[in-house]
Amino acid sequence: VRQDSGGAGCLRDGAARNSFPAAFSAPPPHPDGHQPPRIPAGQMPLHVAVIMDGNGRWAQQRGLSRQAGHQAGAAAVRETVHGALEIGLRHLTLYTFSTENWKRDAEEVDAILDVVRAELTDNPFRDLDVRIRWHGRTGKLPTDISDLLRRRERTTRERTGLTLTMCINYGGRDEITRTAAHLARQVRDGHLHADHISEKDFARHLPHPDMPDVDLLWRTGSEQRTSNFLPWHAAYAELHFTHDCWPDIDRRHLWQAITEYSHRQRHHGATPATTAT
Ligand code: IPE
Ligand code: IPE
Ligand code: MG
Repeated sequence: VRQDSGGAGCLRDGAARNSFPAAFSAPPPHPDGHQPPRIPAGQMPLHVAVIMDGNGRWAQQRGLSRQAGHQAGAAAVRETVHGALEIGLRHLTLYTFSTENWKRDAEEVDAILDVVRAELTDNPFRDLDVRIRWHGRTGKLPTDISDLLRRRERTTRERTGLTLTMCINYGGRDEITRTAAHLARQVRDGHLHADHISEKDFARHLPHPDMPDVDLLWRTGSEQRTSNFLPWHAAYAELHFTHDCWPDIDRRHLWQAITEYSHRQRHHGATPATTAT
C-alpha cells in the first residue's frame, strides 16, 4: 500500500509516523504488515470525520443479530484509530450514536450503548497518544456512559497525538440550536450585539470551539447522505462514500480515503488555481 510521492515539493514531507512519543506505545501493526502511504504534508487532511454505517446490514448478510453487527463495529473503530495514528492524522471524529438513533427499538439502542460502554471501560487506547473527546448532549444518555466519557476526556486531555472525538447522542441541528441559544443569552446579557454576530462569533460559541473544519467526510455502507452529522464543520468537506459495511473496514480503507483526498482540488469558492506559467 505504501505510496511514495514523487513530485517536486513532495519528497520531504511524508506524514506517516515511524516513531511515537516515548510515553506512549506505538499502535499494534496491521496483522498483514501493511504500512501507511506517505502523504505530502500539504495534502494531508487535518480532520477526517466518519459516518460508520452498515453494522446492521453486515450482520444480516451473515445471519447474525444486529447486536453482533454493532459489536463487530467496535473492532473496526480500533483498527481505524490505529491507522489514523500510523498515518499521522491529527483529528478523527466518529459518528457513534445520533440523536435520531433513539428511534430504534429499545433493544437495539441498548445493544449499541452496551458496546459503547464496554469500549469505554476496556479503554483500548489507554497506552496510545490519543486524546479522547465527547461531542453530544447528555439528554437520555445513561449517566454511567456520560461519566465514563468525561473521565476519558479528563485523563487524556494533555495528549497531543490524535484527537479522537466520539459523537455520542450527537445531532447537528441540536448542536446549531444549542449554539444559537448560547448566543441569545450573550445578547440578552449585553455581551454581544445581535446585529454584529459574525460567523467567527458563532464558531466561538459552538460546544467545541477548537474543533477544526472537517476536510474529509467519509461514509461507509453505500448510503450517500450526511444524516445530521457536523453541518457546521463539514460545510466545505470533501465527501467520500464507500460500499463496505463498517465492520469490514480496516485501516487500509482510511489510508485509501486519505490518499484519494490528497488528489482532490479544493477551491473554497475561489477561482481554481491555474498552472503557473
Ligand atoms: C451504523 O450501522 C451504526 C449506528 C447507527 C449506531 P447501522 O446500525 O445503521 O447499520 P445499517 O445501516 O442498518 O446497516
Ligand atoms: C448515521 O447512521 C448515524 C451513525 C452512524 C451513528 P444511520 O444509519 O442512523 O443513518 P440513516 O438513518 O440511514 O440516515
Ligand atoms: Mg445505518
